[in-house]
Amino acid sequence: MAKLRIVGGKRLQGEIACSGAKNAVLPMLCAALLTAEPVTITGVPALNDVETLLKLLARIGVVVSRDGDTVTLCAATIAAPVAPYELVKTMRASILVLGPLLARVGEAEVSLPGGCAIGARPVDQHLKGLAAMGAKVHVVHGNIHARAARLTGARIVPDVVTVTGTENLLMAAVLADGVTVIENAAREPEVADLANLLVAMGARISGIGSDTLVVEGVERLHGATYRVMSDRIEAGTYLCAAAITGGEIVLRDAPVAALDAVVAKLREAGCAIRCGENWIALTAPARLKAVDIRTAPYPGFPTDMQAQFMALDTVAQGSGVIRETIFENRFMHAVELQRLGANIHIDGATAVVTGVDRLEGAEVMATDLRASAGLVVAGLVAEGETVIDRIYHLDRGYERLETKLRALGAKVARLTEDGREIG
Ligand code: UD1
Repeated sequence: MAKLRIVGGKRLQGEIACSGAKNAVLPMLCAALLTAEPVTITGVPALNDVETLLKLLARIGVVVSRDGDTVTLCAATIAAPVAPYELVKTMRASILVLGPLLARVGEAEVSLPGGCAIGARPVDQHLKGLAAMGAKVHVVHGNIHARAARLTGARIVPDVVTVTGTENLLMAAVLADGVTVIENAAREPEVADLANLLVAMGARISGIGSDTLVVEGVERLHGATYRVMSDRIEAGTYLCAAAITGGEIVLRDAPVAALDAVVAKLREAGCAIRCGENWIALTAPARLKAVDIRTAPYPGFPTDMQAQFMALDTVAQGSGVIRETIFENRFMHAVELQRLGANIHIDGATAVVTGVDRLEGAEVMATDLRASAGLVVAGLVAEGETVIDRIYHLDRGYERLETKLRALGAKVARLTEDGREIG
């Protein structure tokens, strides 16, 4: 398994471009299942999660062609509306084929996503919503079986704000008979980006970006070409990387409006930030001030940035209180940060981080995608060498991570299992 070696202490400086958003592109690729005509998505990031999903879609019968970061999908025929366990287990987002398949061909069999390192993450709200639209849903031997001759519009109020749940129900509703109202909908920008693609495909959706989506079902959708939004979590991660090293960077193609909560916290930590329409420039102070974080659904502070901010607090002046309210087991990076010398006290879903004068490089283990990002951020400031094992987690969500970090002056290398440098 590949590892990442970081020699900390380099001040990050320079300019890089943001990639397309992982969490927007995954549902968009699934939306191609809703029409027999070609759907072209541009700005698709080269990520392992994208590869996994394209493999799954090809298995279902979608013809996929690619030209650089442009992917064209044509679901003229659905050969098998099935998502098997071996593909679903590596990526929970595979559940996003359920709604579109059911809407398009009236049946789907999708393996239940397994337990995940960051918490139980059930899909009960997805299933409850589909059942409200008239689907017969059964879970047999770990597989979801769903059927509906044609889905019918319904009023759905999920018990929790769920991002992929909202996306699944939205994709089911666009081809349903009648009007569907999804209340308590996730307001994440990636949900709005998906909705805008669906509108470009002929869907009738109002309330985009709000917590109430109203969908008037249509008989069929047509093809479209659409550019995916930039990745706000990737952008936030590089801003944190610059901030912790006292650096000065510019991000191009940045999803500025979607980063409000993150930018506000970086300013509170002492960073000077200027924003244009699609760029962000950050200049970090010599030492950051610790900040308190409480994760919440959008427009609150994103849980996917919690680990990176915990890393910032480990070397900041003062103490920060970090509350995780979305996932029940999302502090696994804390013990790894402690290996670098961080002072973190955890009590349930709250972590109190007291800044230390310096971190020291060590061997650490990536446990999930964003936890790994937190370790990278910390490794950039830790003295000496930090080696992060299991970086396949990072490859799921960060395009050309080492290249981008090196472009900013970081000393980063990818190593083989036995420690040979491979790039
Ligand atoms: C998505 C993002 C992930 C992000 C998360 C929260 C994608 C591909 N992934 O994950 O990066 O961290 O949103 O912003 O977009 N829940 C239920 N029942 C359900 C569904 C969810 O109880 O049927 C709970 C979850 O356990 C969790 C909370 O709701 O506690 C939010 O989860 P959800 O928004 O669904 O996360 P994902 O869509 O899986």
